[in-house]
Amino acid sequence: MSALTSPTAAATRGKYPPGPDSARRVKFAGQLGSMSRDPLGFFTHCARTYGDITGLRYLNFRVCFINHPELIEDVLVNHARKFHKSRILRASKFLFGEGLLTSEDSFWLRQRRLAQPAFHRARIAAYAETMVAFTERALEGWHGGETRDIHAEMMRITLQIVGKTLFDADVTRDAKEVGESLELLLELAADFRATLLIPIWVPTPTNIRKARAVKKLEAIIYRVIAERRKSGRDAGDLLSMLLAVQDEDGSRMTDKQLRDESITLFLAGHETTANALSWTWWLLAQHPEVEQKLHAELAAVVGGRAPTLDDVGKLKYTELVLTESLRLYPPAWGMARITTEELELGGYRLAKGTGVSFSQWVMHRDARWFDRPEEFVPERWADGLARRLPRFAYFPFGGGPRQCIGNAFALMEATLVLATIAQRYRFRLVEGHPVVPLPSITLRPRHGIPAVLEAR
Ligand code: HEM
Repeated sequence: MSALTSPTAAATRGKYPPGPDSARRVKFAGQLGSMSRDPLGFFTHCARTYGDITGLRYLNFRVCFINHPELIEDVLVNHARKFHKSRILRASKFLFGEGLLTSEDSFWLRQRRLAQPAFHRARIAAYAETMVAFTERALEGWHGGETRDIHAEMMRITLQIVGKTLFDADVTRDAKEVGESLELLLELAADFRATLLIPIWVPTPTNIRKARAVKKLEAIIYRVIAERRKSGRDAGDLLSMLLAVQDEDGSRMTDKQLRDESITLFLAGHETTANALSWTWWLLAQHPEVEQKLHAELAAVVGGRAPTLDDVGKLKYTELVLTESLRLYPPAWGMARITTEELELGGYRLAKGTGVSFSQWVMHRDARWFDRPEEFVPERWADGLARRLPRFAYFPFGGGPRQCIGNAFALMEATLVLATIAQRYRFRLVEGHPVVPLPSITLRPRHGIPAVLEAR
């Protein structure tokens, strides 16, 4: 294992880690500009040039980019209480409000405890049938020989699945509107510079477009909440649990709180999984040998019928494929925190208010942990690699107390959607179409992934 090489705290007391501006004063907007233009390239460059910890400065604001599993473990696990979510996530509160992804401390803990039962294994097992049914429903409209955007298709399917399983709402009729609003918000969110520098209340054309998109999403969410309150029905889903919950003083969640949690789960719960699936199809289309093995496993385990929960545990090769796809194209490509008190990290003393960021994209492609890191090789995971790696060399779902609540949900869903579709179709990529990763809040294909459907 590659050891962390950090200076002693005594040697660096009062110093800031080296970075792009230590030799040459790079202006705030310049550094933020290159980060904003090409974050994947920028962070990869930082890791290659400055090592495990890079000091970045944006005016008075300091952000350390860390690139070693032990340092990431320090932030997410060992000192988790000394960090809050990043400025970028805070700037996204106009969308997520005080939902699970963005809230902090005791408020977050209470909400997490309330939501957790909806994600217990036994509970999500009951969602398997819905996941397959909604995928099959989508396939009814597909025909061999036609061209479809795989990414748009995956977004539609995962949106309907999360709508049905967590909110018992059929969002089929809203899919277009939700899709368009989301598309716009994610596209605008990719401009970190604008997000960080221009507060949401400033009526710039971008902010006005964001506000309109949020309003559209909200209208749908409030409608679902109102319908449920009116019916008083206990559908046994997340929304019923959140509606039923009472504080010690007897008060219930307000519509605003419900809106925040619902919008968070709607977005966190479908966009990420859709990206994971899209990148997997794209990789499979370029690796026929992997695709063939996947087909062989599906034929042996599922045999052409609708896949079930029982099959999920048996689809071992499919699991390797998804694990490897999440390594190369992690939907959550980077994470960030801010210190809430002074602390030591990697031998440096970081003042309160220092940002700390790290990237799955960079870490997952690090030759210290992965042979031939840029290659798609599902077999690398076959002999227990996951157990040998340091905990945070591979972390598509984050870790520590703020670990993704939908981890098991997402993996089960991705397996079932993949198994349902791969038995019926394979995708042939449209030649000449550039498939480029766009690192917005999540890592998505910038211009979609058009492909020709080939019936099997
Ligand atoms: C492949 C799919 C997914 C990936 C890669 C993913 C990744 C992540 C990551 C990295 C975090 C941690 C963020 C941080 O600590 O700053 C997170 C948090 C979260 N995810 Fe996921 N996620 C996926 C699917 C889902 C699904 C299906 C749901 C819900 C149905 C979901 C709901 C959430 C929520 C609510 C949080 C915030 C948890 C908290 O702070 O308590 N995610 N996700």
